[in-house]
Amino acid sequence: MHMNTKIATCTKSNKENFSWIVDDKGLALQLVSDKKLKPLRVDFSSTIITHRRKTVSPKQSIAKAIGIKGNYYPSILDATAGLGRDAFILATLGCEVTLIEKHPIIAKLLKDGLERASKIHDLAIIVQKMNLIEGDAIQYMRKLEKKPDVVYLDPMFPERKKSAKVKKEMQILQALLREEDKKEDGEVIQRNLSALFNAALKTAKKRVVVKRPKLVAPILNQKPDIQFIGKTCRFDVYLNLGKRI
Ligand SMILES: C[S@@+](CC[C@H](N)C(=O)[O-])C[C@H]1O[C@@H](n2cnc3c(N)ncnc32)[C@H](O)[C@@H]1O
Repeated sequence: MHMNTKIATCTKSNKENFSWIVDDKGLALQLVSDKKLKPLRVDFSSTIITHRRKTVSPKQSIAKAIGIKGNYYPSILDATAGLGRDAFILATLGCEVTLIEKHPIIAKLLKDGLERASKIHDLAIIVQKMNLIEGDAIQYMRKLEKKPDVVYLDPMFPERKKSAKVKKEMQILQALLREEDKKEDGEVIQRNLSALFNAALKTAKKRVVVKRPKLVAPILNQKPDIQFIGKTCRFDVYLNLGKRI
């Protein structure tokens, strides 16, 4: 059965207007002003994610940054879950991951993607290790009793401006986040970053890992203890957490 039902308009402004659609592939977000743009959905069975799932290895920089070694799989709090792609890779590697996402629309897409994946044989065993919580990670970390080994942060989608290089499927996400940028000025974004990083340092038992674009300065200009350079990004690792707080 093919459904294509617009179920709600979820964000309105002078420029951008988003609506939900539900079709045979689940929930997706559409930009009303540009229906040619591919609707955004979380699909852990997509070709790109399937390729990443099948080729992921403990030798990759994300695995080394997290500290996976032999049979040691640290517990992870992904405090900036987004579309859950990094968390999915970490769960594929064997880690238990708690994901926190504060943006209600992104959290709703991610919840839908996780639910669909839980019904697919090869993916169910992976998403069983992923526990999504909608809310602000700063508040969550302050109240947390059982601390994770690692807090993982990927706070910023690097390109928020319109650019030919931006992948088609990311364009709608960037339109959504541009709306957020208009609501939050630079100072608020900086405060969120600083509070996130400080809460992460207090919460992680062993290390904080921050994903950064390859050539960008470390978060809040805080020099990491180790860096792992990936193909398109970098992972900054903070150890000796007691001394940094
Ligand atoms: C760059 S995305 C993360 C992408 C993610 N690593 C992935 O693989 O899909 C950053 C996300 O962090 C979320 N975020 C930012 N600050 C947050 C906070 N304080 N608590 C929870 N989520 C937050 C944003 O809403 C956004 O969805």
